[in-house]
Amino acid sequence: MIKIGPSIISSDFSKLKENIKKAEKAKVDFLHVDIMDGIFVKNITFGPMVVEAISKMTYLPFHVHLMIIEPIRYIKEFSRIKNVELISFHYEATDKILETLKEIKKENKRAGLAINPESSFENIKKFLNKIDEILIMSVHPGFSGQKFLTYVLDKIEEIKNYKIQKKLNFEIAVDGGLNEETIPLVIEKGAEILCIGSYFFKNKNSIKFLKKIKNA
Ligand code: DX5
Ligand code: ZN
Repeated sequence: MIKIGPSIISSDFSKLKENIKKAEKAKVDFLHVDIMDGIFVKNITFGPMVVEAISKMTYLPFHVHLMIIEPIRYIKEFSRIKNVELISFHYEATDKILETLKEIKKENKRAGLAINPESSFENIKKFLNKIDEILIMSVHPGFSGQKFLTYVLDKIEEIKNYKIQKKLNFEIAVDGGLNEETIPLVIEKGAEILCIGSYFFKNKNSIKFLKKIKNA
């Protein structure tokens, strides 16, 4: 079954609690939490202190998407927050990929590796037997509300085929520009987990549509 996680940076933060309750009512699987450092990407969001405060508003698990350089520095701090179930970091943000994966595992969290739209799948093949999720970016990370990059569809399919061929267990997540038009396309190519920002929070038909997708 397809899993869905709203990306909370697309929510009106002055109404965050209300919006999270809406997500709970819609029976989403997790909340996608985007952490940006203003260096790896051009935007700054928030850090562990705010994530911990948000965790007091909900029982939903958090999938933390680190868009920060040298993510290994912050694994422990995010892991301390009880809702945090999975931590993804960018392959492009560090040379210490194995060490960072190990650190996440040491904290008993699920580990995700994120890959930018222009990065080739070849570069991360060797890590795929060590991760729980691959987070395929279908926009350039940094901001929500961007247009889906259709050239990423081929990469999703390539990864799905490789996963089947090598009998690997990681899940395939897609993040960025997902909506009524693009969701069917990514599912057809092999997406199993959808991280959805503006469409979830800003389109009044989204919950009905996503229910249909989950029950299909
Ligand atoms: C982009 C973030 C995404 C984004 C998704 O850097 O990683 O999670 O918030 O938002 P939409 O669905 O609006 O592209
Ligand atoms: Zn994200």
